[in-house]
Amino acid sequence: MIIFNSAQKLKNHLNGIRSQGKTIGFAPTMGALHKGHISLISTAKAQCDVVVCSIFVNPTQFNDLSDLDKYPRTLEADIVLLESANCDILFAPEISEIYSEQEINAKKNNVEDKTWMVGKTVDFGLLDKVMEGALRPGHFNGVAQVVSKLFRIVEPNKSFFGQKDFQQLTIIKSMVRQLEMPIEIVACPIVRESDGLAMSSRNTRLTKDDRKRVPFIFKTLSYIVDTYKDSTINELLEEVELEFSIDDFMKLEYLEIVDAETLQPIDDLETATSAVACIAVKLSNVRLIDNIILF
Ligand code: PAF
Repeated sequence: MIIFNSAQKLKNHLNGIRSQGKTIGFAPTMGALHKGHISLISTAKAQCDVVVCSIFVNPTQFNDLSDLDKYPRTLEADIVLLESANCDILFAPEISEIYSEQEINAKKNNVEDKTWMVGKTVDFGLLDKVMEGALRPGHFNGVAQVVSKLFRIVEPNKSFFGQKDFQQLTIIKSMVRQLEMPIEIVACPIVRESDGLAMSSRNTRLTKDDRKRVPFIFKTLSYIVDTYKDSTINELLEEVELEFSIDDFMKLEYLEIVDAETLQPIDDLETATSAVACIAVKLSNVRLIDNIILF
């Protein structure tokens, strides 16, 4: 695996690969890699000639700076995992390779920087106003900012994202459409632990006791899958809210059953054309999200 820290050197190298007529697959990550990320690399390897993974803990998508500090950084172990997955290229830039001083200052002053749109107007409409977007102001602007910059550096044919971050995936698809980037966004299924917990870099921060509690999140989603045909949405939401209200350790931040395209809550499952149950749960020091596609 070749490792690049410089955006320009990576660009030059990828230009050479493109000139040989080879396709490029790209999996952007923030490191602390696990089997979920490796499944992105394996899917990319199966579909593209050359696979690039980036590891960059993106400061602009953290609205809580203590969360940014606590974010696990495990570059050495990540390199070993990527090599064992036969990843071809790792891009691991410093902050100054990605952001100008003006962009860093905007973040410091809590101003949403929109220069990543580069002369276009990208409007996510209601997509970034619900769920994670409602609870983490500016988060999706930061995600779109960094992903658009990485896309301009790597210029992949296809880019691979986990379905675990369903809202992020929908927003990236919308961004690529609006910026008219010729990149296919490939959604990869959620990879779970044997007890159902969705793999996430944040899982390593769970206390031992919280780790025993969190399989309840997937149990809840599975219960919704098993029962939604016999219930109304309100009945389902009320049942789940009640279950969580008697748990002193897990706070249900939201459970929403939304349309897969618009991410807007569905009122009536009978008239809906798609439905995804999305959940966010807060434990002592970690927030976890998960989802399941109903239809
Ligand atoms: O999903 C992630 O790890 C991040 O949000 C991403 C897409 C790498 C952007 O920083």
